[in-house]
Amino acid sequence: MKRYVADISRKSVVLGVTGGIAAYKAAQLTRDLQRHGIDVQVVMTRAAQGMITPATFQALSGKPVYSDMWDTGVPDSMAHIELSRGKNAVVVAPATADFIAKLANGLADDLLSTLCLARECPLIVAPAMNRQMWDHPATRRNVDRLLRDGASILGPASGDQACGEVGMGRMLEPGDIAEAVAGFLAPKILKGVRVLITAGPTFEPIDTVRGITNRSSGKMGYAIARAALDAGADVTLITGPVSLAAPAGVALMRVTTAAEMFEAVKRNAARAGIYIGVAAVADYRVDKPSRHKIKKTDHDRLKLALVPNPDILAWVAGRPRPPFCVGFAAESRNLDAYADEKRRRKKVPLMVANLAQEAIGADDNEVTLLDDRGTHKLPRAPKEVVARQLIAHIAKLYASRGRKPR
Ligand code: PMT
Repeated sequence: MKRYVADISRKSVVLGVTGGIAAYKAAQLTRDLQRHGIDVQVVMTRAAQGMITPATFQALSGKPVYSDMWDTGVPDSMAHIELSRGKNAVVVAPATADFIAKLANGLADDLLSTLCLARECPLIVAPAMNRQMWDHPATRRNVDRLLRDGASILGPASGDQACGEVGMGRMLEPGDIAEAVAGFLAPKILKGVRVLITAGPTFEPIDTVRGITNRSSGKMGYAIARAALDAGADVTLITGPVSLAAPAGVALMRVTTAAEMFEAVKRNAARAGIYIGVAAVADYRVDKPSRHKIKKTDHDRLKLALVPNPDILAWVAGRPRPPFCVGFAAESRNLDAYADEKRRRKKVPLMVANLAQEAIGADDNEVTLLDDRGTHKLPRAPKEVVARQLIAHIAKLYASRGRKPR
């Protein structure tokens, strides 16, 4: 089979850390941005170094950390110009009231503020301060000015503050900032396309309390929903029982059994431009689940009669005008061969193969994409990164088929 490479461009940002208590959370933010496949160059203010050491960021980002305007390690000693060139955004997190005031007034008295003024890329600011400082008319004016100058403001959130007070001013959680930045940077390659996704396991009742299910966590399907949303799609997510929070902005439908999932898919398939079946749907259900809890004392041996569930993916792909269909194949061996056989049998243009025992429940995944043109292996990566790469690949195939958004 021919091998080909999906075009997946890596994003990179300057992470500016200023001197708020929340500076320690910027270490986690560095990790979370990397988890989304974003390269991080850290620049710190002097005050931030009183909160957390540059060595921490250097170890996490794998790059020297800059804070000095005249650092000789930067070509031409022009750190304020060089560091932001070629970057996709400057993210300031945490941004103190003082730093926001500087930004709003165009002050440039240290490396980070000068770099923000000299940048060509978008500016994203995550404020963090005491609630009174946030509410102060001066801060309100400065934030308003920044917004009018085109900056994006993430947060702040309300809650317990380091000073012991409670109110608005906490920095958003690093994971939320990283998701917002990743979404901001994602190319809108599925703008206006309706994407229907199934995720998680199904649960097939045996009686009123017991059932047959599997260990799917929903992480892969939810990550794909997020990536599709960030690509500008209109996303409907039909999910089996999982404990994940759904990405804000998706139309969420919760189901329990395969039959319920099938009904929900049937109601939405005609409007979808793309269907992605990530759910681990039970192949069988109990023929006649008991309407009461089965008593152990009533049975020496208990036999369950199982009947097959409908194949949801095959049904969608077999419609007269099907959406662009993507299936997932979870196999424990002969991955490519079994997945390709499944792709042909279910008549789907793209099948994503993964090793069941390694993919299910895990945070990372390693997948192979199989379509008419051949196979392409994506390297093992966090599911968020795999999801973005997959969406990039799907968008390309979708566009190459001359599909109009629907
Ligand atoms: O949820 P996670 O913990 O993140 O794990 C992710 C995952 C391993 C569940 C996911 O990556 C995955 O592989 N999902 C598909 C699992 C599966 O059911 O594979 P399958 O080979 O049995 O099914 C093939 C395809 O047919 C799938 O797209 C499935 O959604 C679909 N199918 C299967 C049976 C059925 N009755 N109806 C279906 O639509």
